[in-house]
Amino acid sequence: SKSAPTSPAGLPPAGEAFCFFPRRKTVRILVIGSGGREHALVWKIRQSPLCTDLIVTPGNGGTQLDGVRSADVKPDDILGLLKLAREEKVDLVVPGPELPLVLGITDAMNVAGIPCFGPDRYCAQLEGSKYFAKDLMKKAGVPTAECAVFNDAESAHSFVAHRGAPLVIKADGLAAGKGVVVARTTEEALQAVDAIMKDHVFGDAGRQVVIEECLEGEEVSLLCLCDGLSAVPLPSAQDHKAAYDGDKGPNTGGMGAYSPAPILPDSELEKMTDLVIRPVIKHLAGENHPFVGVLYAGLMMTKDGPKVLEYNVRFGDPECQPLLMRLDGDLVKIMLACTRGNLDPSLVTFTPKSALGVVVAAEGYPGSYDRGMPITGLKEAESEDGVKVFHSGTKFRDGQVLSDGGRVLCVTALGDGLKDAQDRAYRAVNRITMPKSFHRTDIGMKGIRHLEGK
Ligand code: AMP
Ligand code: GLY
Repeated sequence: SKSAPTSPAGLPPAGEAFCFFPRRKTVRILVIGSGGREHALVWKIRQSPLCTDLIVTPGNGGTQLDGVRSADVKPDDILGLLKLAREEKVDLVVPGPELPLVLGITDAMNVAGIPCFGPDRYCAQLEGSKYFAKDLMKKAGVPTAECAVFNDAESAHSFVAHRGAPLVIKADGLAAGKGVVVARTTEEALQAVDAIMKDHVFGDAGRQVVIEECLEGEEVSLLCLCDGLSAVPLPSAQDHKAAYDGDKGPNTGGMGAYSPAPILPDSELEKMTDLVIRPVIKHLAGENHPFVGVLYAGLMMTKDGPKVLEYNVRFGDPECQPLLMRLDGDLVKIMLACTRGNLDPSLVTFTPKSALGVVVAAEGYPGSYDRGMPITGLKEAESEDGVKVFHSGTKFRDGQVLSDGGRVLCVTALGDGLKDAQDRAYRAVNRITMPKSFHRTDIGMKGIRHLEGK
């Protein structure tokens, strides 16, 4: 019989505990988060033959309905997450939201030898600090709005008074997507400075403010898969940040999204990646912080060319839902390759179909809203060809799906072209009932107008 593999004195044989990367052909995965993005990640991960075991923490009604095991550790509890990943012997951690990344989940997991599909804490400052992002864009030569940064309200005031509106006032730190005020008048700009720096409406996130020139144009998102040294673009997507039709009302986390966005066609993805993503990846690698995970550039297509509004260091929600519906490639293979620093672009394949997602939200969102509203018609919605209902804020109790958040569902459809995807998504939305809910009825209209040449 064969003797046991030998190893240097004291070390376990390769492939056992000492091995940094799993040698097994199967993978145990932990997904962190509870939104529609995380439901979509879980849905796509489960399609991979590599994935043998999947846990989501904390997950939602949708992941529960899909039979995915859940844990009860919150996304900001880094030590709790590390303990969970160890106990469950996971081979890959997939953080959905930005908070754990900004808090250093990747650094913590890597110290424990657990691959994590996300950037380290240093790189996550691209999203965690507006000033860090602006400074890096300047060093890397990425086009963006002119800006100035302030640590006290007085100097911010005199800058605003000197420059005059329109201006964009941004709290430096994480503010759940609400830390940006596009001020049309000087008075509004001064009020925003006071709210952030004197009334501390965003707490510590507002210790510094970044004040930017106001850019005009249409917005589009470019998300790239990054393995530390290289970046592979996903097809473009467009979010709808305003709460109501016609881009009216307060800004939200996103009320719907579609892919591709005709304003950034596939033929221009490489060029755009060279302009706004690869210089950043190269710069960070040069600082010994190779960026692993998703780097997302929010772009404004101005008359002077594309400019970066912001970076996110993760999939967008709801952009993730239509993007993952279009992904043909094996997401687990892709994410593992990214953590190993060898992403092969041929793994990243997409259906040429369009995908469009409509968010169903609770009345009052993004302000205060009720929870616990019963939702029906989910099966009927999914009986529509090409439709998947991703849950954003739901829970599953006594055989019933109840609302449990501001954004409740993201009803997503694949179609032959944008119009077809839109028709299918709205037909599905109309089969769902939930008291005190609302949704935008114009998701995708900008893209359709582009295609019609208007
Ligand atoms: P951000 O979190 O930086 O992406 O900002 C949120 C939203 O504010 C963006 O999606 C834009 O609609 C708007 N915005 C941010 N920066 C600017 C800018 N410099 N000019 C015009 N609008 C902006
Ligand atoms: N939908 C925009 C974001 O996820 O930040």
